[in-house]
Amino acid sequence: MFNRLSRRHFARIAGWSALGLSTISAESAQADSRRSLPSGFPRNFLWGTATSAYQIEGAVNEDGRGPSIWDRFAHTDGKIGDHSTADVANDHYHRYKEDVQLIKALGAKAYRFSIAWPRVFPEGTGSPNPKGLDFYDRLLDELLANGIEPFATLYHWDLPQALQDRFGGWMSRDTSKAFADYAGYVAAHLSDRVKKIFTINECHRLVYSGYGAGIDAPGLSLPPQELNQVMHHVALGHGLAAQAVRAHGRTGTRVGPAENLVVCIPAIETPANIRATEIATRELNAGYLTVILEGKYTDGFLAYAGKNAPKYTAEDLKVISSPIDFVGLNIYLPHHYVVAADNKSGFSLLPFPSTFPHMESDWLKIGPEAMYWAPRQVAKLWNVKSIYITENGASASDQPAADGNIYDLDRIMYLRNYLTQLQRATSEGVPVRGYFLWSLMDNFEWTDGFEKRFGLYRVDFKTQRRTPKLSASFYREVIERNKVV
Ligand code: BG6
Repeated sequence: MFNRLSRRHFARIAGWSALGLSTISAESAQADSRRSLPSGFPRNFLWGTATSAYQIEGAVNEDGRGPSIWDRFAHTDGKIGDHSTADVANDHYHRYKEDVQLIKALGAKAYRFSIAWPRVFPEGTGSPNPKGLDFYDRLLDELLANGIEPFATLYHWDLPQALQDRFGGWMSRDTSKAFADYAGYVAAHLSDRVKKIFTINECHRLVYSGYGAGIDAPGLSLPPQELNQVMHHVALGHGLAAQAVRAHGRTGTRVGPAENLVVCIPAIETPANIRATEIATRELNAGYLTVILEGKYTDGFLAYAGKNAPKYTAEDLKVISSPIDFVGLNIYLPHHYVVAADNKSGFSLLPFPSTFPHMESDWLKIGPEAMYWAPRQVAKLWNVKSIYITENGASASDQPAADGNIYDLDRIMYLRNYLTQLQRATSEGVPVRGYFLWSLMDNFEWTDGFEKRFGLYRVDFKTQRRTPKLSASFYREVIERNKVV
């Protein structure tokens, strides 16, 4: 839907050159004054790293874990670029103590990991598997003993295969309900030690890549109405889970989503473009953050979806917009540069030139301003008081130099620029409380297998040896000085 919407708007940008030059220069001057940054991040700013269960744990058949849709998908011929699976991955299930030391060595005080639903409920529902939860018990104890605050994500895409087989996964609201039961169970058992819980990682990607484009598990390409229905069930799952965490978590347990919102940036920082960008952000995130934070689908979305709109009740919308304590944002790239337009929507999305730079992954365009505008818009549009950057990071070639070290200067360049923009945001009072770098270590990067590396630590997947890259030293320095270095 969004791609088609984007294309529609690309067609309407012809008038962009009508933007007044005088307006631009006056605004540039204002923007310049905003750019004189104080030197550091707020006191108590939380620095962390992030991983997810399926990407690092391995041990897929151990201690009663059930199969997930990603096990099935990775074992299907032709789905993973390098024909690998995550059966072993980083063997984190057995090496978690060593990995906690890697976090500690960075000086990071927080760690975002995910809990594998099929470890806890191998069949998705029904009887819990106590050994599955035991692993997270051990991990939490280890983190806390090392002074690292745990942040748990309940769903980072590893749906129990049984739910796919029984209900078609998120095609059914039965999966949303099962998710809530699992969420409540985890909150009841682990919230004595984990106080911050994210419901779903990246609703947007799991729906469109998993059920629309068919490139992620479960590999489906549904027609528009069914796809919008999946989107609705995922948002509903988030809301039901948020309620369950509140109902079953101990006092002080906090909950929110971790979303890869569609990031819109004013092409030039004029008041008109900034306003147009806010409108675009609200519309282009209609199915997730907007409905979660407003309790309704936008008129623009409903008009565009027409007969393909999801079927829902007023009660659903109430559930989806259940109170949350913070918003997590995964920010990697600029999705759109926006200008104001004299059209029905009020904005136009500019086409990207073919020379626009990207990191090793083709999709990972380099647009550091994303890290300023996205949290600023979320705070402003929806009056959000607490934001975490739940993921940000980059793939790089990471070839060892002659001396064996990894001088990942391109990753450092990327991080330095994004963090500079984050600092711009916090210095203006945008309420970003912490930042989780993706990723602690190289891992199974979904359909790229082990071909793409995002880690601060290089992992040799034959020996499981972890070696810090230069970016690990960079990040340690940032953390220690609480400023961009
Ligand atoms: C984020 C995911 O979208 O992007 C991570 O939350 C993922 O799990 C990261 O590893 C990089 O994406 P990819 O597709 O290159 O593995």
